[in-house]
Order: sequence, then C-alpha cells, then structure tokens
Amino acid sequence: MDRQNTDSLPISLVPDLEVVAQSDEHRRIYTRHFEVPSVPEATRVQRELVKDEVEAFKGANVPDVSTGTFPVAELNLRSHLTALSGQVMAIRVNTYESSGTGGGTRYLTQWFALGGPRVLGTRDLFDSDDDWAEFKEFVLQAATSDTLVLTGSLRELDDSLLDSVNFDAQGNALVEFDDNSLGAGTIGPVTVTVAAEQVSALLSDFGALARTASMSPSPRIQPGQSQDAVAPEAGRSRSQEPGPPSSRRGIDCRTEKCVALTFDDGPGPKTGALLDSLRRGDAPSTFFVTGPNAMLRPDMLQRMASEGHEIGNHTWNHRSLTSLSSAQIRSEIDRTNDMISRAVNQPATLMRPPFGAHNSISDRLASTPVILWDVDTLDWKHRNTEKVVDAAIKQTRPGSIVLMHDIHPSTVAAVPRILSGLKDKGYTFVTVTELVGPAGLEAGESYAHAPRPAKPDNWETGKAGR
Ligand code: NI
Repeated sequence: MDRQNTDSLPISLVPDLEVVAQSDEHRRIYTRHFEVPSVPEATRVQRELVKDEVEAFKGANVPDVSTGTFPVAELNLRSHLTALSGQVMAIRVNTYESSGTGGGTRYLTQWFALGGPRVLGTRDLFDSDDDWAEFKEFVLQAATSDTLVLTGSLRELDDSLLDSVNFDAQGNALVEFDDNSLGAGTIGPVTVTVAAEQVSALLSDFGALARTASMSPSPRIQPGQSQDAVAPEAGRSRSQEPGPPSSRRGIDCRTEKCVALTFDDGPGPKTGALLDSLRRGDAPSTFFVTGPNAMLRPDMLQRMASEGHEIGNHTWNHRSLTSLSSAQIRSEIDRTNDMISRAVNQPATLMRPPFGAHNSISDRLASTPVILWDVDTLDWKHRNTEKVVDAAIKQTRPGSIVLMHDIHPSTVAAVPRILSGLKDKGYTFVTVTELVGPAGLEAGESYAHAPRPAKPDNWETGKAGR
C-alpha cells in the first residue's frame, strides 16, 4: 500500500494563485489555503473550509477559564494543487488535528470545472449511478485485499468516505481515507489504488478531463495577462544595488542596546516590502522561514542573505515538534534546510520551533541553536498595526528577541514605525547571532533573549531589567 503518492503540482502553474497562511501560535492553529482571483469559486470554498475548520477546532478546544491557558491541541490545514488544465483544477486539502494525546489527518479534494466555475466532488468524476457503484466496488476490493484494513468497517462504503479521490501520473485513481476512518486508531493513512484500466471506463466527461489534468498537467494561462505580470515579486532588480549595510560588524551587545527583530512563517507576498523597510532603517533581522514558502520565493531568501539578514529554519509542515517522532522531526528540519540551501547555498544557522513547542529531543535534533522570544507582539492575533507598534516598542528591553510574522500585511505596515521608535530609544538592530554573540550560541540550546547585562542603568532610567 502506497501511503503518500498523491503528489502536489507546482502552484506556479496557476499564475494568480495566492497562498494564504494564517497562524494563531497560542492555540496552535496553522492554515495555508489557496485563493485564486480568476476562479472565485475556489477562493470561496477554500476560505469557507478554513473558517469552518478553525471554528470547529476552537469550539472543541476552549481555553481553561481559570488559568487562561489553551489546551495543547493543534490544527494544521494545508492545501495542495493536484490537477490542472484549461478546464479543470483540483485542490487537495489535508487537515491534521490533534487533541494533544493523539491526532490524525483528514483529506478532502475539491474539483473545479473552469470556464463556468463550478465546485465539484468525487461523484462528479463518474458517469452513471452504475459506474459510481462499480467504482465503489473496485475500491472495496482494493481496500480489503490490504490486510491492514478492517474489512468490516468498509462494508458500508458511505459516499462521504470518498471525498478525496485523485489520479496519479499513470492514471490510476487514488482514494485517500481519513486517518482512523477504517479502523479505530490502529492504522495510519490509507490510500487505496484503483487501476487505470478499471477506472477509465467509469468516468464522466469531466472525470476524463480531470484524469488528463492530473496525468499531464498544463499551466493555466489567464487571458490578457502577460508573462511579466506573472512574475511573483518585484524587487529582483534591487539585488543589484550595493549589498549588505554591514561593514557594521564590531557591534558589542554587551555594551550597546541591541534588539533582534524576528519574522516567522514567510516569506510571503509582503516580504519584499518588509525588506525595503529594513534596508531603509538599517535593521538586519532574522527570518524563520518554512520550507514550502522558501521553495515558493527563493528570490526573497537571496535578498535576505545579500542584505545582511539571518535565515532560520521554521520547519516544513509547521507541526508542533513535541508531538512528532525523532524521524519526523529530522525530516521537518532537513527538508526545510535543503530548500534554504537551494536558495542561498547554505542551510539555516538557527531553528525556531513552530508554536515555540520544543523539548530536549527536538532541541538536540535541531543541530543548531533553538531560538524562542521574549517579546510577543501577538501580531497573528489582532492583525492591528497600532498594536504591533505598541507591543514592540513598549516591551523591548536590551537583549530582546521580538516575535513577528511577515505573512501579515498589518505587521509589515508596522515595521517602519517600530524601527524609528526603537531607534529613538537608542536601540541598534542586530541579527539573533549578533545579539547573543557567536560565542554565546550553542547548537541544541534554546534562547529567548540575550543574557541581560549586569548594569543596565545607563540604558533604562528607572526600572532596571533583571
Ligand atoms: Ni510559526
């Protein structure tokens, strides 16, 4: 049984596809869905799905009113492109949800008939009711020949179990079952394959187009859009301007007021604008990037490196590492490092665990220093520029590490004022490695701020930091 053969297509095939990442670090909610302006129906159903999942999750995981703490539960939703042509698009969504003690992934594939945008489901891939019944019979046969599947649970093959069907490059149908839907907790993800020769005769006209769009995907070219307009980010020309603002080394954060601004979860559509602000403000910063976003915007990583910023690893799937096996943790970190290396020829120098969730095992497996924060702007929560500015300026102390997210436009808009506000208070902006000092950072150790200086009196009048 093949457990992971529904491959994702490069999203660059859809020129106007936007990846929308949203996170709520305290509740461990992380969603990454697609919006496609030229296919409004896709945008609508993707948004609805995220909204429904987040609401259901919040309803089931309410904070403890007595302590104000959130349960250790996690929601991770990710969209993938699985089929594309001039007539068809498919978006597969996997939603990992854990209650803290155990978790599982649900799968859903949304099909769209382009040209007269319609949202379709698995049933629409098949022709008559007889064809549909025959397909289900094939699914049953394939599933029950797998010794891991409890046949009893499949006797009633409800249509709702078949809400994620895709095709592989050979035209076989791949049916993904939600974790635990075929047997309680004992088996992991199950993908059942129905052979190409069995499935091909059963397909509707749309299903035949869908199969072709999966086997040999073709890009979706928007009418009236030139290739130039398709380029992901402006700003490539800027990299030719004189490079790092940083013959500035020689900063000693034991005697200077230093702060490290950090940006997680990107790069995103606004990261170019953020880099412009940081360059104007002479503010080398640290970016903790996720693997998929590094893959999507390697040019942004190149700009970060050439403009004196530090790049850290924020894992691939943004799972909380404390709920993963050692092998999974290693894969989360290594895959992301591969993508970072591909962009800037060297792996990340730091790691930040998603949600700040870490333990001695994940710290050791990071094989770099593990970077947390002491100033949380809560920018992911309020998405309010004023509040980001306020938190960053008021809570920063010498040696602070400030947590922000460059995937939120409200945060990017706040940065120019944060830079001028902190500069007015005498701060120098540094990367995390500069903040702690190279001698102070050790692989496998975690840091939330630089060691507080012994005598901060000359920095803060009145209340001295501990
Ligand atoms: Ni994050």
